[in-house]
Amino acid sequence: MNIPLKSIESSTGDTFSPGLEGVVAAQTVLSHVDGAAGRLVLRGYQLEQLSGWSFEAVLSLLWRDLAPENLDEAGIRKRLGAAREVAFERMVAALPALDGLSQVEALRLLLSRLPDVEKESHHVVAVASTSVFAAAIARRDRGLEPVRPDASLGHAADFLRMLHGAEQRADKVRALETYLVTVADHGLNASTFATRVIASTQAGLFSSVIGGLCALKGPLHGGAPGPVLDMLDAIGTEGDVRPWLAAALDRGERLMGFGHRIYRVRDPRADALKQAVASLRDNGGRIDFAEKVEVEALALLAERKPLRPLQTNVEFYTALVLEAVGFPRESFTNVFASGRMAGWTAHVLEQDKVGRLIRPQSRYVGPMPA
Ligand code: ACO
Repeated sequence: MNIPLKSIESSTGDTFSPGLEGVVAAQTVLSHVDGAAGRLVLRGYQLEQLSGWSFEAVLSLLWRDLAPENLDEAGIRKRLGAAREVAFERMVAALPALDGLSQVEALRLLLSRLPDVEKESHHVVAVASTSVFAAAIARRDRGLEPVRPDASLGHAADFLRMLHGAEQRADKVRALETYLVTVADHGLNASTFATRVIASTQAGLFSSVIGGLCALKGPLHGGAPGPVLDMLDAIGTEGDVRPWLAAALDRGERLMGFGHRIYRVRDPRADALKQAVASLRDNGGRIDFAEKVEVEALALLAERKPLRPLQTNVEFYTALVLEAVGFPRESFTNVFASGRMAGWTAHVLEQDKVGRLIRPQSRYVGPMPA
């Protein structure tokens, strides 16, 4: 059965936008995505100005005046460290229940054990827990025991340490930190919208961010970076770059890591991550090869879709950064969630202040009773 996607004439004069494209559904002080100029602003700072910031500093910025207490970078670092330790203790007994689940499903399950009634610093708990869980889940997939957090470390450094079981090189920590900062918030993307809708019902912070995670999981949103690596692998084994990409487009497939609902020019996050990965060019020529694929893909997309500017999106270089710092591709969505948890929690805090239930309408296009 076909449900019309195009807006059809309404007798009541209401408007319908497929996919809510162009619809403004919230006002926020948190971030602004300027799709025409390729600009991302987080609370007054352009993404490029946040280069060199710690993840904790960005959390302090996003939570400012929304959380019950304003904490600076050092205060957040301390609270996050303590919250990682609590998250670890809570998690261990639940690990056997993860058998048979994908990594993102396992994260969903562990987050769902956090009680919504526990409101004290729940935004800090959500951010801390996500990285502890994501690292343990990635290790578990390889048959390894989880690694206890070290509360004295910065969040990015400890995240990598919990993944590998030992402290990692400063340039790798820096690359992961840049990644977490780069994806911290991004306007009313699908997962943030889902999060805000749930928050608006006063369901609680953990319930809200789990909704965000479920939305992030899909390949049209946060599930794309793993498939980017699959694409690079397939091109690498199946011949030349251009013929492979052309054949994929001939089959009607989408090239993973390209295109965006809002950006009509290059996604500024792609450049931030391209710079972050530049210092890690030591993994068998992968990054050089990916750059070649990017050039060919952009040229082909411009030829095939001249009316629709399709540029590199954040997921293309996400895949390269996360692979270079040692995350397995099955864990990429969980690492994305670890960064985006900053934005989701800030949006829940903001939505709580707005206090208005989000309840749009649908237009009935089915038959009327006789
Ligand atoms: N490869 C090939 N063609 C594409 C791509 C792509 N990556 N993206 C869009 N197109 C084409 C579509 O086929 C369509 O062509 P048509 O008009 O001839 O049918 C046209 O561009 C418009 O596509 P829409 O689906 O309307 O664009 P939309 O804004 O809904 O899509 C999206 C955005 C979902 C990100 C899309 O570009 C896509 O599927 N990209 C690949 C997956 C991906 O990289 N996802 C991560 C996104 S970033 C993030 O969410 C964090």
